[in-house]
Amino acid sequence: MDIEKALEIVRHKLPKKRFEHSVRVAETAVKLAEMFNGDKYNCELAGILHDYCKYDELSEMYQIVIREKLDPALLGFNKELLHGPVAAIKMRDDYGIKNDEILLAISNHTSGRDHMTLNEKIIYVADYIEPERDQKNVDDIRKIVYEDKHLDLAVYEITKATIKHLLKSDKTIYPRTIECLNYYNMVKE
Ligand SMILES: [Fe+2]
Ligand SMILES: [Fe+2]
Repeated sequence: MDIEKALEIVRHKLPKKRFEHSVRVAETAVKLAEMFNGDKYNCELAGILHDYCKYDELSEMYQIVIREKLDPALLGFNKELLHGPVAAIKMRDDYGIKNDEILLAISNHTSGRDHMTLNEKIIYVADYIEPERDQKNVDDIRKIVYEDKHLDLAVYEITKATIKHLLKSDKTIYPRTIECLNYYNMVKE
C-alpha cells in the first residue's frame, strides 16, 4: 500500500482529530526511524494506520479475536487494548498488507510486548510522544528519546506509566503489558 492510499482510508474512517493524531504519529515515527536506523516506509505506514479500528464496535472486535484465534485473554479487555490487534487483522484481510513489520507494529501498539522489533518500539513510542501529547511525563520521555537516544528505556518508562495509570483506576492489566514492563526493565540498562 502506498502512503497516499493509507492516508485516504484513514481520513475516511476516523474523526478529524484522530486522523491528525495518526499523521503526527507517522511523522514522529519517521523521525525516530532516521535516528535509530529503522525502516522509514514501514514506520510511516504503521503510524498512519495504527488507530484505524479505534472506534469500531467492541462486539465486532470480540468476533475477530475468536475467529482469528487471537489470545483469548483479549476477551476480558476493552477497545483501548483491542483496537491494535484488530486493526492488524483488518489491514491484512481487507487491504492485503502482508508486511509483518507493519502488522506487528499496528497490532502491539496498545499493549507492548517483550522482544519488540525496532519498528514496533518506534510506533509504541511515537504514539506516546507525538507533538500534541500532553501527559504529565511526556517531556521526560521525549528527553529520553531525543537527547539520550535510549529507546528501550523510553519503552520501559511508557509502559510503567501506563500500568500505573491503569492501576489507579482499578483496571485489569493485560499480561503481555506486564511482560513488556519486565522485559524492558531488564534490558534498559
Ligand atoms: Fe491506539
Ligand atoms: Fe494512537
